[in-house]
Amino acid sequence: MKISLTRRYRFAASHRLHTTKLSAAENRRVYGKCSNPYGHGHNYVLEVTVTGPVDPETGMIANLGELDPFVQREVIEPFDQKFLNEEVGEFREQVATTENVSRAIFDRLKGFRLARLERVRIEETSKNSFEIEDGPSS
Ligand code: NI
Repeated sequence: MKISLTRRYRFAASHRLHTTKLSAAENRRVYGKCSNPYGHGHNYVLEVTVTGPVDPETGMIANLGELDPFVQREVIEPFDQKFLNEEVGEFREQVATTENVSRAIFDRLKGFRLARLERVRIEETSKNSFEIEDGPSS
């Protein structure tokens, strides 16, 4: 049997889908209006799932009083109300697609010591969501 805890967070950020590896015309072809030079914003919903044994004393996998400030410090503060391309280090080198945003967030959260990070899920819009799970191919 396995039990996991999922906690939901929100942040708002802007990005521009653009890579210096492609020409201006190719960027427009690949990313369409998402490559607009002035960027655009999203209200991202972030779900963080952790697993681990239920502490027999507290009855919990992880204390939200410890998970929340960790996620706040590692992700919400650095990402919220930011232009991801310029203000979050990971996206100076890679395109700020939500696939890459998910990966950056997973890497930032896997240092949580009080439970094992299992999954990060991000809703970029009501139509798009992305998931990344702990595993060899991630
Ligand atoms: Ni976008």
